[in-house]
Amino acid sequence: MSSKEANFPRAPILDWSSFSSIGVANIPSVADLPNRVITTSGRAALYQALLQLDLPAGATVLLPSYHCPTMVAPALLAGLKVEFYPLGGDGLPLLGAIGESALNRVGAIIVAHYFGLPLSLSTVRNWCDQHGIALIEDCAHSLFGDAGERPVGRWGDFATASFSKFLPVPEAGLLASAHREIRPVSFKENALSRQLKGLVDVLELSARHGCLKPVDLPLRLLFDRKNARKRVPDNGSAVPIDDADGMMRQCDMGRIEQAPLWISDSLSRRLPKGRNIAQRRANFAGYLAAFQASSMARPVRPALPEHAVPYVFPLWVEDCDRVYAEIRARKLPVFRWDRIWPGTPDIAGDTGSAWSRHVLQLLCHQTLGTDDVLEISNEIKCLL
Ligand SMILES: Cc1ncc(COP(=O)(O)O)c(C=O)c1O
Repeated sequence: MSSKEANFPRAPILDWSSFSSIGVANIPSVADLPNRVITTSGRAALYQALLQLDLPAGATVLLPSYHCPTMVAPALLAGLKVEFYPLGGDGLPLLGAIGESALNRVGAIIVAHYFGLPLSLSTVRNWCDQHGIALIEDCAHSLFGDAGERPVGRWGDFATASFSKFLPVPEAGLLASAHREIRPVSFKENALSRQLKGLVDVLELSARHGCLKPVDLPLRLLFDRKNARKRVPDNGSAVPIDDADGMMRQCDMGRIEQAPLWISDSLSRRLPKGRNIAQRRANFAGYLAAFQASSMARPVRPALPEHAVPYVFPLWVEDCDRVYAEIRARKLPVFRWDRIWPGTPDIAGDTGSAWSRHVLQLLCHQTLGTDDVLEISNEIKCLL
């Protein structure tokens, strides 16, 4: 992928290499768990996991202070209350900070494996068992890998994943469990026109990024003709509204009860995973080499654990507000989780609130090549 052809993509895109199989060490995946249901997204999977738990109306779900709004919206839509817990320096919950009095109303805790660098949830699992609280292991960033003593996804009563972060699919997620049956989910079926649109969207994105040579040029001409007929009005730069209603709207929860699209289901089952894993690891290593000796920024994790398949490279930046504003202006493939759900408390010693400002998430997906990573790193280093 070359930035000369298009902006750096913010998610994997289907290209010929998506179909190439290369051998890598056998790395476990959430998709290997025995009980599985494909959903339209990670947020839909969280919503379905909460419904499967049959919690009493108004029960509380604990969520991390470091979150993206799509982790919070499913709990509210499921008719539950949310409270937020602080994180330690490793990104795991500071369980001691959750007051005894809160425990009676808590039905479930959602714990995320951040960045695709999963950690053992042994302490969290024991705490949940001791207090009769269900554990939802959010693997949206960690489709693959080992989480300490267990493969990722095997700590939770339920595990959830987001396929669109790892695979070239327009929308898809996964609800899975190693330990519990999943009751049948009655999804709403998609009209044929929606199925076709999903397929066309995948091809169009690939063609626009020059990923399907030599057929991308004729495809682009075809898509230009299609789009010329229906021009979408430009919303300009809509400013996000950070009250709870505005956040809920922007979470785009409209398709959480929909069946996954045929194209997403099919690609997520069939695409080989070897090159995906190898390229993500190579991209992470490239960022690590670029920033290891930086005096203005530091990698949040000093090394890439064996068997980890990263979603992003987390980089702590001191002068974060200025640097992130410049990164956005240059449309680099970098996120920051700075849109925090209203009511998230400021808790002394919480790493989560510091990460929301200082940690930049540099994407590692497989459509970015080693040259792209070098170019992105160099641009960020200039800004630093
Ligand atoms: C940790 C985490 N959980 C859940 C989600 C929701 O996943 P999706 O975008 O597939 O709905 C996200 C999305 O960014 C996420 O980062």
